[in-house]
Amino acid sequence: MLKVEEQQPVEFSPALIEKFGEIIGRYPQGKQKSALLPMLHEVQAELGWLSTVAMDKVAARLDIQPIEVYEVASFYTMYFLRPQGKYMLEVCRTGPCCLVGAEKLMNHIEDRLGVKEGEVTPDGLFSWRGVECLAACGYGPVLQIGPEYTFYENLDEQKVDALIEDLRKK
Ligand code: FES
Repeated sequence: MLKVEEQQPVEFSPALIEKFGEIIGRYPQGKQKSALLPMLHEVQAELGWLSTVAMDKVAARLDIQPIEVYEVASFYTMYFLRPQGKYMLEVCRTGPCCLVGAEKLMNHIEDRLGVKEGEVTPDGLFSWRGVECLAACGYGPVLQIGPEYTFYENLDEQKVDALIEDLRKK
């Protein structure tokens, strides 16, 4: 059964609809499904996440089955299938970063923000999650902060606290 937020009606902006046309136009006739990934990125940039209703509308625009959109959106971790905070802290949780304190850092972030992995703080500002290798294994612990995916290395609790405070003041 769909959650309430997943059933809410979605209206794409005129700019987004125009963007869809431009993206689809990049591909040959009959190959419009190739536009799916960039279209989902645009939808997520506008709405913050991909609800089932939004994905259904993308499927209709591409004349494909909704399941074809769900399969893609649920495969790639950069698509969010539930609402996220304005800032998403993604901490590398792969081996080399764990050896230098990534798990401790995630526990600290959980305490500091007061929400578990994947949840949103009550003010709507923050979410966090562990992700796989961010390709800076010699500089751990590392994290990136969406939506811009700004990257930070050699972290400890104090540095993360300062990052969070800076974001709160923005
Ligand atoms: Fe953390 Fe590669 S293991 S960046």
